[in-house]
Amino acid sequence: MISRAGCGPSTLKSSRLSGLTTLGVGGPPDLLVRPETVEDAQAAVLRALADDVPWRVLGRGSNLVVDDDGVDGVVLQLGRLRHLRIDRGGRVAAGAGLPTSALLAGTRSAGLGGLECLVGYPATVGGVARMNAGGAWGFVAERIVGVTLIDERGELRDISSAECGFGYRTSGLDRCVVVEVRFELPAVDAAAYRADVERIHDRKSATQPLDRPSAGCVFKNPTGDSAGRLVDLCGLKGSARGAAAVSEVHGNFVVNRGGARAADVLSLIDDVREAVVQRTGVVLDLEVEVWRRRTR
Ligand code: FAD
Ligand code: EPU
Repeated sequence: MISRAGCGPSTLKSSRLSGLTTLGVGGPPDLLVRPETVEDAQAAVLRALADDVPWRVLGRGSNLVVDDDGVDGVVLQLGRLRHLRIDRGGRVAAGAGLPTSALLAGTRSAGLGGLECLVGYPATVGGVARMNAGGAWGFVAERIVGVTLIDERGELRDISSAECGFGYRTSGLDRCVVVEVRFELPAVDAAAYRADVERIHDRKSATQPLDRPSAGCVFKNPTGDSAGRLVDLCGLKGSARGAAAVSEVHGNFVVNRGGARAADVLSLIDDVREAVVQRTGVVLDLEVEVWRRRTR
């Protein structure tokens, strides 16, 4: 039984997660909570723990495939926790719900750089910390010095970067709510940094389907190779299920051509994984996270 009582003065409403994710598929959660403050977020976690219902955290939804039936339990969306404090010496504290575009813009205006790894995709500060997002231009963990989080028992704690358990597309932040991330960023030459950011953006626009709804790369890269290269090698670009298709631009992206269902996306992902293992022997692991009901 899910109770709204005790979640704090948050706005509570249920809506389809298709509108809150970049791929654009997925039904509603049982309860969507949008905390105004860290205390509200903590109250919601404690309420869910007391009611024994599952809870999850939604960032920008750019690494998620949400099932058509939606998800059980509580989804916390931290879009209102979006402060940005920049101190002398390059120390930065950002609310977990702050869009990374705003983090990039705010730090750049203060003459700080070092976040090239976040250029070219929509996300939140909490989501990139959880995923240790990045790629050819580095990983965000290299710039993080500490995190404030609500742990799985509902306690508010500060931890150092070393305690975050960062790895390739992973971290130890998976059973908690990150509420603030602290960075240390280098001072940079504004013109040179701007040129670097534009170059990275152009490179990504040329090699990734940034103009189509997607959840970014579907699979993690196997050691020493690129999942996109393998999908391409197998001739799978353009293959489709319903309105979900493997991008013609990059083999590791599934795009929504308009009106795709999660069922289409998930069947297509299964098809691709099966074809790649048959033809190359490589088993691809998912990078995207699939959210589905545990009870039907
Ligand atoms: P979500 O997708 O909402 O959530 C992802 C995971 O993080 C979930 O487990 C969620 O529960 C958890 N989470 C979110 N917020 C919090 C929080 N505050 N506390 C605890 N857990 C939280 N990724 C890369 O690494 N490199 C790329 O180059 C890249 N390119 C992309 C390009 C495109 C076009 C798209 C659509 C995606 C791309 N991605 C890339 C994937 C995605 O943007 C990243 O994984 C990003 O980190 C997800 O952030 P988010 O805020 O959208 O998190
Ligand atoms: N390639 C192909 N065909 C394709 C796609 C790629 O042959 O369809 C080849 C490219 O030509 C290149 C190699 O594969 O030689 C690597 O491709 P790319 O530079 O596009 O990088 P990637 O390994 O496919 C990774 C990340 C991306 C990130 C880029 C750039 C993963 C799973 N993917 O892609 O992250 O943007 O590097 O830094 O680690 C994401 O995680 O969602 C994501 C998009």
